[in-house]
Amino acid sequence: MKELVIEGMTAGELVAQYGTPLYVYDQAKLENNLEAYTQNFKSDLFQTKILYASKAFQTIGMLDLIANYGLGVDVVSGGELYTALQSDVPVEKIHFHGNNKTTEELRMAFESGIVHIVADNVMELEEIAELAEEYQRAVTIQIRLNVGIEAHTHEYIVTTHIDSKFGIAFGSEDYQACLAIFEKSDYLHLEGFHVHIGSQIFEMDAWYAAIDKMLGYLATFDYPMTLNLGGGFGVRYTDEDQPMPIKENMEQILSYLEGKLQETGVTINEVVIEPGRSLVAEAGITLYEIGYQKQTPNKHYYFVDGGMGDNIRPSLYQAKYACDVANKLDAEKTELVTVAGKYCESGDVLIHDVHLPPVEKGDVLVVYSTGAYGYSMSSNYNRNPTPAVVFVKDGKAREIVKRQTLADLIRNDVKNGGEWK
Ligand SMILES: Cc1ncc(COP(=O)(O)O)c(C=O)c1O
Repeated sequence: MKELVIEGMTAGELVAQYGTPLYVYDQAKLENNLEAYTQNFKSDLFQTKILYASKAFQTIGMLDLIANYGLGVDVVSGGELYTALQSDVPVEKIHFHGNNKTTEELRMAFESGIVHIVADNVMELEEIAELAEEYQRAVTIQIRLNVGIEAHTHEYIVTTHIDSKFGIAFGSEDYQACLAIFEKSDYLHLEGFHVHIGSQIFEMDAWYAAIDKMLGYLATFDYPMTLNLGGGFGVRYTDEDQPMPIKENMEQILSYLEGKLQETGVTINEVVIEPGRSLVAEAGITLYEIGYQKQTPNKHYYFVDGGMGDNIRPSLYQAKYACDVANKLDAEKTELVTVAGKYCESGDVLIHDVHLPPVEKGDVLVVYSTGAYGYSMSSNYNRNPTPAVVFVKDGKAREIVKRQTLADLIRNDVKNGGEWK
């Protein structure tokens, strides 16, 4: 039987070495994606910067890899910041995002030497100004704007939606209040504006609409600013998704932007993008062991030894994935099945109505394109340990994250409920 091979290692070898469920990344694919961004996101009209939106898959091993390619990193919490600080990414390349950074997290940023903060609202900017004064430290700020464009997959809508929890509206009272804070502060420098219009964007017009709006805003300043376009570049989960290759996607965005700059005479200093999913999603797969099967009047279930704890996306927002039986790739797919997990939730279904071959207990199921928001959204629900993460290249595997042990699960539990105080 034909077996799945990832960078020279069979699924069987990986499972024998590391067990299941197992997150497996093809390191060569990760590197190709990193190359595609670094080679193609360049312009003669402005500087460019690529930040890995690390929420997609944040581990020290992944951050060390992106550091090799000179990328910076976008973090959104004290935990992500802490992880980034332990990695090879230089502190000056860490950008701190988030709509409700706590005082403790902001202090951590100041104390660890973070220089780039993306401010999401007026209260946050006020606090950053106070802390900058206290620490006597210069900080470079981008303001996250809500441009009223929402893009998801093949649709985008221009809304007058002003109620998003993210960002502020250009020209609004809050916006004016932010400008006043910059006027007063000796430490804050308004570097530019940030916008993130959505996820899984395949529709170029959405990018073009966002660029048009942002250039209009940048034109009101008398110095060249930074335009941060955020992330959201689409990937392939199933045949329904037809993403553009990274190279082409970057070329189209850059050529539109350069054309607009020439047409309008606006000058900008730097353009930043924050790809997350598109760097890691398709480079990752998850291997599961198939356990029992069950036939109901209308469904044939294949149960696997993972599920919503290692991939919440299908249960959370009906995300779709493709799969195969990794050790029976050439077997005829005669069964119409539902792949369900082992968690105590009826919604714990990974894939509905998929054709697979007949299987036996112990066969290995592969779910493709699980590299983004899988491990990073994992939980210990039902006290299932988080799977290991391995990178594979040239016929060898290395463990990036160890599988949690049962002891890890109770590490913070206090026997007898602690002391009453
Ligand atoms: C501000 C910001 N930048 C970048 C990203 C990354 O998006 P993606 O993983 O779709 O590229 C996100 C995702 O939510 C985001 O909120």
